[in-house]
Amino acid sequence: MADWMDLESRYYFQTQKRLPVLLVRGEGTKVYDEQGRQYLDFVAGVATVSLGHCHPVLIKAIEEQAHQLIHVSNYYYTLPQLKLAELLCQTSGLDRVFFCNSGAEAVEGAIKLTRKWGKEKKDGAYEIIVAENAFHGRTLAAVAATGTEKYRAPFTPLPEGFIRVPFNDLEAIKEATGGKTAAVLLEPIQGEGGVNVPADDYLRRVRAWCDQAGLLLVLDEVQTGIGRTGKLFAFQHYGAQPDVLTSAKGLAGGVPIGAFLAREHCAVFAPGEHGSTFGGNPLATNAGYNVLKYIVDNDVPAQVAKKGEHLERRLRSLADRHPMVTEIRGKGLLWALELDREAAEQAVRLSLDEGLLINNVKPTALRLMPPLTVSEDELDEAVDIIDRVLTRVEAGAAK
Ligand SMILES: Cc1ncc(COP(=O)(O)O)c(C=O)c1O
Repeated sequence: MADWMDLESRYYFQTQKRLPVLLVRGEGTKVYDEQGRQYLDFVAGVATVSLGHCHPVLIKAIEEQAHQLIHVSNYYYTLPQLKLAELLCQTSGLDRVFFCNSGAEAVEGAIKLTRKWGKEKKDGAYEIIVAENAFHGRTLAAVAATGTEKYRAPFTPLPEGFIRVPFNDLEAIKEATGGKTAAVLLEPIQGEGGVNVPADDYLRRVRAWCDQAGLLLVLDEVQTGIGRTGKLFAFQHYGAQPDVLTSAKGLAGGVPIGAFLAREHCAVFAPGEHGSTFGGNPLATNAGYNVLKYIVDNDVPAQVAKKGEHLERRLRSLADRHPMVTEIRGKGLLWALELDREAAEQAVRLSLDEGLLINNVKPTALRLMPPLTVSEDELDEAVDIIDRVLTRVEAGAAK
């Protein structure tokens, strides 16, 4: 066994089944292992490396800030944090932001904000309606909001008050709404759940129901945000402005960051009620500001929409050639291929052999989420590799 596999099995919590590759370098859509072998990266740090690996804009933002000021404390004002706050509010249409360090923390903060709002403005309402197959992260409240039973079961008792309903089913939300309901929490497109895209009018109708019933609409755009689906935020496809919005992953192009935003009417935190040592620090927010500014200034979401249409065409013709692909679904540069059998893990391994990183989001589904800067040639190359891989799977390639 290679030394690094040995080290991992010896010293690291065994929380992740890793692929047998040690990545040491990246550039654009490509990453390289320690032997110099090249891979097309269609995982992109799980939809995080938005501008590709080691983009000059991100390197410059980190480098310049590292020379200037890396970390102080939120006891003081720092400029990158405020510039990113202003840009995020202006581009999302929400009013206030809080920065943290990950998606789970952003969701956790949004849940706390919802609880406080319910206590103060809705007679103590605290229940949050969430969706089956949702994924919101691994902290206790975020995992309680998450649909996957096996992520929750080992950690009970969990924070209570999460009411689960089928995704893409407005009537179920209406039926679940009661006197204690404070909010509805949804991903506009479920990412970890398998790239589940709801009906075009679902979110708009959920928004209307929230208005009618006096509930907050909390949208988790940790995976779908920052251009991934062909708009800066996925809710912008659907005309459903949230009251609370979470972001993370692609926001700083790979530098750890999280954020939650709220409209003024529900921005109810008082001094001391929430905080984070690292949250919004100058290094992460300078990275975030420059990445987001690049994405906005260059209208990257429009480019993503165009590339997404190209990828969709290629995937549809791939599905036509391979009967084992029963469905393709997605938007922009977030796609899944549903297979007629539990062969996704095998396909991921065969793709690795062929120089492509993809992810088995479910035993029966493959997920593609390349950097937003991917070229059409790279999209074609990846689809060609998947074509060969599926042919091998169909031919009964060794597992
Ligand atoms: C929609 C959504 N919310 C929250 C999270 C959790 O983010 P993190 O892993 O940064 O805590 C994820 C991660 O995949 C996600 O997809």
